This record gives sequence, structure tokens and C-alpha cells, in this order.
Amino acid sequence: MSTYEIIQKAHSGWAYLALIFLAIAVINAVIGLNSKSEFTKKDRMLGLFGLIFTHIQLLFGLILYFVSPLGKAVLGQMKDPALRLTSLEHPLINIIAIALITIGWSKHKKLTTSHAKFKTFTIFYALGLILILSRIPWKMWLN
Ligand code: HEM
Repeated sequence: MSTYEIIQKAHSGWAYLALIFLAIAVINAVIGLNSKSEFTKKDRMLGLFGLIFTHIQLLFGLILYFVSPLGKAVLGQMKDPALRLTSLEHPLINIIAIALITIGWSKHKKLTTSHAKFKTFTIFYALGLILILSRIPWKMWLN
């Protein structure tokens, strides 16, 4: 297997974990916010898992971008929607999404009330998740 194939498979497989852990963190934050629960260690851990799993995916993605024939190699081919997605939209939007998730994580640490912590996770993590879902190459992934 070539470096490309290994990284492509890692990025493709890890995507399930990143999305699942991010979704769990979002759902947990929404529930915590609505039920006015106390923010506990469990909630912190779920937020941390969401952060770590998406960051590892970011690392795979950054490497993949330079070794894939669908990444940097075809950047600039704006007329082809599939190439524009994998070489520009997916990488750019996902970096922004992961930056938002990271900001949410940092912000929650400085807040003191449970309500504010859950609210911050709800906003930043949900926004990150929506952005990521909006730019997944679904056809490639699920085929
Ligand atoms: C949480 C963030 C991310 C998720 C969930 C994600 C998920 C995916 C998925 C599901 C695919 C399709 C894989 C397949 O066809 O089997 C893909 C492809 C790709 N991703 Fe990501 N990705 C993320 C972030 C990034 C970032 C930040 C970059 C680059 C900086 C990137 C670069 C790429 C490239 C270049 C491809 C096309 C690879 C190829 O098939 O040759 N990804 N990504």
C-alpha cells in the first residue's frame, strides 16, 4: 500500500469516529442545557473526546491534502464541483469548523456556570458539526 492509500483509508475510517464523538458531544450539551444539569467531569470528557477525535482527523486531512490526487494537486480546477469540493471547500470549511470547536473548548474552561458551559459547547460544537456535514464528499465516502 502506498502512503496515499494508507492515509486515505485512515482519514476515511477515522471520519466515523470523529463524527460520532462530535455528535455525542453536541447532543450531550443540548441535553445538559435544556435539563439545567450541573456540568460534571463526564460532560468535560465528552467535550474533550469531540475535540481530540476531530483534531486527529484534521492531522490525517492535512497530510492527505498533499499526497492525494484530489487535494492540492487539483486546486484551482473550480469548474469541476467534485474537484472543487475535495481540493478547496472540504479542507477550508473543515479547518474553520475545527477552529470553532477549539474556540468552544477554550471558552468553556474560562466560564464558571454550568449553563454557560453547556451553552458554549452547544453553539460552537454544533456549528462545527453542521459545517463539517455540509462539505463531506458523501458520494465518494459511502460508495
Ligand atoms: C472533521 C473533519 C473532517 C472529516 C469528518 C473529513 C471526512 C472526509 C471523508 C469522509 C472523506 C471521503 C473519504 C473517502 O472517500 O473514503 C474525505 C476526503 C478528503 N479529505 Fe477530509 N475530513 C475532514 C477534514 C479534512 C481536512 C481538514 C482536510 C485537509 C486539510 C481534508 C482533506 C481531504 C481530502 C484531500 C480528501 C480526498 C481524499 C481522496 O480520496 O483522495 N479533510 N474527508
